[in-house]
Amino acid sequence: MIGFVIAVDGPAASGKGTIAAGLGQAYALPVLDSGLLYRAVGVSLQRAGGDLSDQAAAAEAARRLDPSALSDPAFRTRAAGEAASRVAAYPGVREALRDFQRAFAEQPGGAVIDGRDIGTVIAPDAPAKLYVTAAAAVRARRRWLQLTAAGEAANLEEILADIRRRDERDAERADSPMRPASDAVLLDTSRMTIETAADAARRIVEAARARWERSSG
Ligand code: C5P
Repeated sequence: MIGFVIAVDGPAASGKGTIAAGLGQAYALPVLDSGLLYRAVGVSLQRAGGDLSDQAAAAEAARRLDPSALSDPAFRTRAAGEAASRVAAYPGVREALRDFQRAFAEQPGGAVIDGRDIGTVIAPDAPAKLYVTAAAAVRARRRWLQLTAAGEAANLEEILADIRRRDERDAERADSPMRPASDAVLLDTSRMTIETAADAARRIVEAARARWERSSG
């Protein structure tokens, strides 16, 4: 039987990372930000002098990845997000990262994982699934505020263009495209503060937990 797994999917800057971290705290579950795996693959490939269009080299970088070393701040930059979404379209990369994510989901007690294909591919049996979204313009503005607060020069128009390009690439790829699982609850955070969104997520997950407890006896 699977533990209490919470799948949190959705596009970039929708608030899913903050929501996933809050749920992990609330339920005392380990949290995996699966986007970091793809970011690490993109950055490692570039550091080794490889080309993001080289599918075989990207898959090799994914197979060599050490998932315990994801704290490098270079993985969190805009450029890393862009590189991640390019390598994430390659089936060889996705396959190489799949077992680690499934094992994370299957640990006793459960887990929270955020990403794009957690509810559809990695943990299709997860008892709680959220699909967190927000209008592209709202997401761009949030990202801009974050970057500006961190002292980085940021251009709102460029960030919006980045987000749109990434959404399209993630939703249109053939292997594990970004989309809500048929049994995911949609949470549109466009008009919510992060606190309101976290509360709404918590209520959705509470309801799922009550159902899961009833069904697991
Ligand atoms: O969520 P984050 O912005 O860190 O993800 C970076 C990129 O990694 C996404 O744009 C997407 O292409 C890819 N990704 C994915 N599947 C996941 C998580 C991330 O394809 N489960």
